[in-house]
Amino acid sequence: MEKSESSPALILPHGGVLKNRFCEREKVEELLGKPNVSEIQVDEWTICDAEMIACGGFSPLEGFMDERNYISVINSMRLTDGTVWSMPVVLPVEEPSVFKRTEQALLVFQKKPVGIIEIRDIFKRKKEEECIKVFKTTDTSHPAVKYIKECPEYLVGGNIYFLKPERKKFKKYYLYPEETRNEFKRRKWKNVVGFQTRNPIHRAHEYIQKCALEICDGLFIHPIIGKTKEEDIPADVRMKCYEVLLKNYFPAERVMLCVNPSAMRYGGPREAILHAIVRKNYGCTHFIVGRDHAGVGNFYGPYDAQKIFEEFDESELGINPLFFENSFFCKKCGSMATEKTCPHGEKFRVSISGTKTREILSKGKLLPPEFTRREIAEVLVKFYRRKRGV
Ligand code: ADX
Repeated sequence: MEKSESSPALILPHGGVLKNRFCEREKVEELLGKPNVSEIQVDEWTICDAEMIACGGFSPLEGFMDERNYISVINSMRLTDGTVWSMPVVLPVEEPSVFKRTEQALLVFQKKPVGIIEIRDIFKRKKEEECIKVFKTTDTSHPAVKYIKECPEYLVGGNIYFLKPERKKFKKYYLYPEETRNEFKRRKWKNVVGFQTRNPIHRAHEYIQKCALEICDGLFIHPIIGKTKEEDIPADVRMKCYEVLLKNYFPAERVMLCVNPSAMRYGGPREAILHAIVRKNYGCTHFIVGRDHAGVGNFYGPYDAQKIFEEFDESELGINPLFFENSFFCKKCGSMATEKTCPHGEKFRVSISGTKTREILSKGKLLPPEFTRREIAEVLVKFYRRKRGV
């Protein structure tokens, strides 16, 4: 695996260089002061992407994709220069005729200017093709398909400059790739395993994290706090769960909890590749891919997100995936296990579906401790009570 020369302990970012597209406020104000400046309204998903581009989490991207890269990514999971990249990162626009190539446009989010794009390309989105090839469905019950279908028809490509957000919420956990890399170096971690998540932590998560920690120096827990679907548990509740768990069950010096400002795409296999690349940019050498990674409903097979890694050379991806089978508590083993390690069969396993979990919590009841640690279940019950106004 490639390591950077100046700091031998650190893995190189994807494409070799960590990008930084943050700019000073003056740069945006200068453009604001010019006559007839075009504005592009950025939505909640796209603002997350802009921040990921700017902080280097999406290196080597320096902006939103032009048509050639968009098509190349959809068809072959590569940028036009051959670099592995599995999902489109695009900027939708309402009315293409008001924009000109080569001009700069202001990026505006919730009425505030947030950055600049240097327009290189304006093109029609191939919605149907994108949904089929990237998400393997055109069914609008898939949250990303629904979003894409509701988006305007055109896309604008080009490099961006972006104002660094204030990072008020989750302040102490809000680190960008350069900062996590420095911290890994300070902690002298040579092998760091990244963990993606969008759900409250349960025993299976904890089990696979700890299995990975047995062979790595550090664990980097990196929950998504950008746009997620309505029914998902809000980020602040999930972060609370993590705080409680880390305090009670993890060796503090071997774990780092940081927030990930990305939007969740629910893209299963293709998103697992993107998730791995992002964690490589944050400095991880290894990445956990468990059962139905980044899946939603029944759109993907439970291990599709693991199989897709076979399509790439280890060296071109540059981060080691660690695969885990469906994990559960086995009453006979008296411990967490998987099919690989437990001979006792289905009837001794404690597994609860997402729907059942919500049902139990909605009634104000705690989840079984074999499924979720008591401290976590208490945080979740409180959240459900608040939600019901009890
Ligand atoms: S995800 O959409 O971010 O993948 P989640 O937060 O539930 O959802 O999962 C985080 C990681 O844990 C993913 O790699 C997922 O595959 C893995 N995972 C979740 N539940 C299990 C389980 N019971 N057994 C094995 N891996 C699991």
